[in-house]
Amino acid sequence: MQKDPDNWHSTIKLVMADITTLEVDAVVNAANNSLLGGGGVDGAIHSAAGPELLEECRGLCGCPTGEARITRGYGLPARFVIHTVGPIWSGGDNGEDDLLRNCYRNCFALAELHDIKTIAFPAISAGVYGFPMERACRIALREMMSYLEKKNVDVIAVCFSKRALWCYQVALQDF
Ligand code: APR
Repeated sequence: MQKDPDNWHSTIKLVMADITTLEVDAVVNAANNSLLGGGGVDGAIHSAAGPELLEECRGLCGCPTGEARITRGYGLPARFVIHTVGPIWSGGDNGEDDLLRNCYRNCFALAELHDIKTIAFPAISAGVYGFPMERACRIALREMMSYLEKKNVDVIAVCFSKRALWCYQVALQDF
């Protein structure tokens, strides 16, 4: 279906929510290289999904930064969890932007492979990993929009704070 360039905004939804409550095909987890859980959204997803998620993750033997892996959602309302490992911010001159870009691209590649029609992303790397929120939102939106130019899916940018929501809203004005 040809996308109407004037209203692709409508297929990116900004929501303030706990990502573990969303009934979508896939939620994206901002994981670490071990894929064995942690704090933040990683901790929330693992505690909501239950121990079977960790069991499946153990079998994946980790994930390099910028790549993504997919598991079932178990106790989550989401069918799948796409785990991706964002870059740790170290000033911006060590390829952090490219690695974050790769996170979104690799999550979308897995979404396409598994015919996922609704996918919810947290602000990858913008928490513990220290990536500046404004910068992370712009990278996220650019990748979401380029995926939506070729695919008719629902993409949800999940904000866990008013500041995150504001950053996304401001960034959207520039597109
Ligand atoms: N739902 C949606 N968003 C959430 C939730 C939640 N339940 N919990 C946290 N967030 C938001 C944070 O507010 C932040 O904006 O997700 C974004 C990413 O923050 P982190 O979870 O800290 O992830 P990240 O910055 O990528 O750091 C990853 O933190 O938890 C550990 O194991 C994880 O080592 C890894 C590191």
